[in-house]
Amino acid sequence: MPINIRRATVADLITMQHTNLTNLPENYTFKFYLYHLLTWPHISFVATTIDPVDSSDNLLFVNGEPASENILKEKINKIAKENPLFKPENNDQLLELINANAKMDSQYINKNEKIVGYVLAKLNDDEEPNPDSDINPAQTGHVTSLSVMRTYRKLGIAEKLMLQSLKALRDTHNAKDVILHVRESNGAAFHLYKNKLDFEILTVEKGYYMDKEDAYKMKKDLSAYDSEDEDFEDNLLI
Ligand SMILES: CC(C)(COP(=O)(O)OP(=O)(O)OC[C@H]1O[C@@H](n2cnc3c(N)ncnc32)[C@H](O)[C@@H]1OP(=O)(O)O)[C@@H](O)C(=O)NCCC(=O)NCCS
Repeated sequence: MPINIRRATVADLITMQHTNLTNLPENYTFKFYLYHLLTWPHISFVATTIDPVDSSDNLLFVNGEPASENILKEKINKIAKENPLFKPENNDQLLELINANAKMDSQYINKNEKIVGYVLAKLNDDEEPNPDSDINPAQTGHVTSLSVMRTYRKLGIAEKLMLQSLKALRDTHNAKDVILHVRESNGAAFHLYKNKLDFEILTVEKGYYMDKEDAYKMKKDLSAYDSEDEDFEDNLLI
């Protein structure tokens, strides 16, 4: 299951919105996604994969070798049971079914590419400068939303998406720091931000979310993300 991380495009937005609706209670209008990409096209990323349509990685193969006739029959029977309207009798029909299933999967942006995660980021353009704070909103990035589809979690995808976005914020906009909000109860995301990406807690914002749960407002200094840093460059690879 190869995973590719690339810059998000306008063509990805409907599927990114679907991913968001599936994974998070904080949802946004399509206009809001579009605003991000049209205003800051360099800093939002998607993670994509090509399974299961790619024939090198599909049900016809076992450990890279063509499946034996018996194994193939077993697989065909299993799929046929789950799809009573279509009973494939040979490889071609099976492939057709796999492709048909892919088309029905709303994570697909085209026949061979499906979105499994995204990070949506912006510059902090809606905050007034605060004389008591050393944060300059115009040079501060803001991670609006991050999510990875359930079956693709714990593979390092969110970390890589975040790293790409942080690096792009630094490289493209010369952002000095980046902020985000996370629910107090979201242990997975908090662990990622605090322990893997070295964000620090700035404040606890009481009742920040619609359901009144508190948020940690977290910040990361981006000066550590020097594009010459080889460890960092290696870390971007998935
Ligand atoms: C939070 C989320 C984006 C993490 O995505 P992911 O691709 O699974 O994260 P990664 O694989 O990059 O994992 C990064 C670290 O978090 C840890 N982690 C991920 N999910 C975890 C979980 N459910 N419980 C505990 N730790 C978890 C990983 O183990 C890894 O740490 P490690 O290297 O020390 O083991 C994903 O769970 C998700 O989409 N959740 C729903 C949406 C959401 O909460 N978004 C964040 C809103 S602020």
